[in-house]
Parts: sequence; structure tokens; C-alpha cells
Amino acid sequence: MPFTVLVGCQWGDEGKGKIVDLLAEDVDWVARFQGGANAGHTVLLGERQAVLHLVPTGILRPDVRCAIGNGVVLDPMALLDEVRLLEEMGINWRGRLWISPLAHLVTPIHKATEVLRQQDRSIGTTRRGIGPTYEAKAARHGLRAEDLLDERRLRERLHVQWELLRSALSGQPEGTLGRLAAEAGGSAGHAQGMFDPTRQGLEELVDLFADARRIIAPLVCDVTDLLLSEDDAGRTILCEGAQGALLDIDHGTYPFVTSSNTTVGGACTGLGIPPQRIKKVIGVVKAYTTRVGEGPFPTEFHGEVAEQFREKAGEYGATTGRPRRCGWFDAVLAKRTARINGVDEFVVTKMDVLSGLKQLRMAVAYRASGTQSVAPAGAFWPSAAVLEGVTPEYVDVPGWQMDLSGAPDWSALPGEARAYVDRIGHEIGVPVRLVSIGPGREEVVRREA
Ligand code: IMP
Repeated sequence: MPFTVLVGCQWGDEGKGKIVDLLAEDVDWVARFQGGANAGHTVLLGERQAVLHLVPTGILRPDVRCAIGNGVVLDPMALLDEVRLLEEMGINWRGRLWISPLAHLVTPIHKATEVLRQQDRSIGTTRRGIGPTYEAKAARHGLRAEDLLDERRLRERLHVQWELLRSALSGQPEGTLGRLAAEAGGSAGHAQGMFDPTRQGLEELVDLFADARRIIAPLVCDVTDLLLSEDDAGRTILCEGAQGALLDIDHGTYPFVTSSNTTVGGACTGLGIPPQRIKKVIGVVKAYTTRVGEGPFPTEFHGEVAEQFREKAGEYGATTGRPRRCGWFDAVLAKRTARINGVDEFVVTKMDVLSGLKQLRMAVAYRASGTQSVAPAGAFWPSAAVLEGVTPEYVDVPGWQMDLSGAPDWSALPGEARAYVDRIGHEIGVPVRLVSIGPGREEVVRREA
């Protein structure tokens, strides 16, 4: 299998990290193609938990090599923190991690710009500088990983960004950035660490990149050519998507989306690979639905039910620690995301979380409120305005009491759990192949027909 692409088919946090880690056992390469340190891929290794934000999850398997493609926005400081963490965990990343020279760099200026715009409040962005970095890329004043190789160019590019933020802050009271960060609930560290070009000079900004130049620059190579050559040589490459299809800048619930293409096409543009080389698309969905940040969510739980479910499920963001919004499984949206991604097979995660509930519900259609939509009545349409007006129609499905974790195979799962998974596959119209029944590496069963 040459290139396989794995994508989240809800609003992110589907448990992709664990599935990539599992599939990585049988591949040569894992490549990230979009997003940045806004992602949080959690993997449980025995007693230890690893949360990776930038480095592909494949790094946890010693024989796998990893690539960060041009579609990723790379925060060099965050990457340094991450490789240091890997070293503390005894994971050797040297000689196994490659970065595209064309990947854009997230700078302290981008993070400060996000706070100044206050999109962390209006959209619930992660404050990892993602939006401003993709904006700079489109506006053609971004900085790329290759600029780490040339100090003069790095300084020139940083100068442009430093000036832009300085002029955006002109006329604002002194200390505006720190105040906004603190008001938005930023930790003291976050507010203190905010780069402020009205107080800090260009050289101070350039100096922040010294370690990155030393440690990251040697990892920069033509990732596109490398991966295509590896494919030519018969090696297997798993492309690891971050976030989920409904956070896609084009196909998600705009404007409550991230700034990259999280859907399958993002793997082509974000790595530089032609679509014919993709032989399989794997979609990952949770057995229920969650989202972080603002935006429409038709099957959302409210009130005490929401609190109780979140606690039981441990639904707190891996990157920001924010409580995640939770709700019933929504087959209407999953059908749409399966279709636009060309999903060949699904993985259903977090089935264990639903144990103990008497009755489960699943949305199988939407009733529209009359809001103008180009979509056929009742179908999913990824516009926040339209989605806010829909009422889901549910089917009730019996729950199960048994703790699923530790079940050795599909046949050991209670009939109700198997029926629930089958109902998901039936509603979406795509087979479910794997079912995750606990956080551990081994807690996955293969669905048998
Ligand atoms: P940004 O990616 O930080 O710009 O945030 C845009 C939106 O995407 C916000 O609603 C975030 O909560 C959401 N988001 C970004 N990354 C993730 C993720 O990895 N999981 C879930 N939601 C995410």
C-alpha cells in the first residue's frame, strides 16, 4: 500500500494519534501534511502518556521515519520542546525526522497577532499562531523552514513581520498585548511570554531562533522528493491528518474552522504528492461527537448531562486543556465527511466511553428550520448559519453495561455494542474496520463481518 491517508471525520480529537500509532507498526513512514501545534495527538504507552503536537506520531515506533510536509505550519520553539520531551522519554528522533523547506514557520509575531485579533475569543482558536501564519503564507510575507538556513533572509523576513505588528499596535495603549492575553484567560506564562514589538526589538526576535537554526536546520530536506522516491522503492507511507474534516477551511463549519485543508486533498498539496498515489483513505470517528471552541453542533448535550458525560469521557483538550463540548453521534455529518474524503474504511474510537448508558441516540437526518441553504432539505451543509437552524432526527439504539476495555476481539463485545458499530457503518455507508475500546495501544479490535 503506497500512500494511505488518515483523516478525522468530525471536529478533530477523534483519537487519530492512537490509530496512527497502531497502523505505524506496519509502515515505513508517517508524514504530517497540515496544521501545526494546534493539534494534540495523545498516545498511551503502557503507563506513560505521550502528547505530540507537531512531530508525527510514528516517531514512537523506532523503525518508522517521519516527515513534516510543506502544508504544516511549524513552530520551531514548540518543535524544540517536543524533541526534548522525546529525548526525556528515551525516544531517539535523530536521523528519523525530516522537515520540508517549504513549511511555513509560526513566529512569536503570529502568536501575538492572534491575541491582538482576539480570535481566541470569537472563534475559540488555540492561540498557537495558526491562523496568522497561514494568512502570512497567503499574503506572501511568510517565513519558511528554508529561511532557517540563511540568517540574512531570516532577519529580513522577520523584520517585515515585526514592522507589521508594530504598526497594528500603533495608537494602542502600552502593554495592550499582555493585557489581552491575560484577559482572555491566558496563564501568567502565556501573557509574559508574548512577544511585544513595541517593547522588544528585531534583534531580540532574531535571537529567539538561534536554537532552532542549530537544531532544526539540519532536518530540512526536500520531503516531497524523499517521499515520492520512497514510494517508488515500494515503501509504505501513512499520511497523518490533524484536526477533522469539519474544521477544514473550505469544507468545515466556516468561520468556526482552522486555517488549513484538513480533508484528503490536503495530503496532496501539503506533501506534494499526486492523488493517484493515494491508495487508501481511512476515516476516524469517535463513537459520539465532540468539538472544542465555538460554532454549530446539532447533537450537542446541554446542562448537567453535558457535564456528566464530559467527566466520564475525560473530554478535555490535549493542547489547551479546554473542556470539549460533547454530543450524540451524528451520522448526517459523518456521511458528508466520508463522501468528501472518499473514505474507504472507518475506525470508531472511544467505544468504551459509552458503556453503562441504557439508551444511546444517533442523529440520522436533519430537519431544516427554513434557513436558506443550497443543500437538499435535511442534508448536511457546512455553513454555521444553516447548521444552527437544524434539528437532528434521532434513532434510539440500546446501550450496554459491560466494560469493553480488555475484550480480546470483536466477538467478545456485547451484541448491543456490535450493533451500534454496525449501525454507524450502515448509516454512513462505509464499512467500519477497527474499533477502539480503551486508551491503551492494544485496546483495539478488528470488526468482523
Ligand atoms: P486554530 O486552529 O487554533 O486556528 O483554531 C480554530 C478552531 O479549530 C478552534 O475552534 C479550535 O478549537 C479548533 N481546533 C484546532 N485544532 C484542533 C484540534 O486538534 N482538535 C480540535 N479542535 C481543534
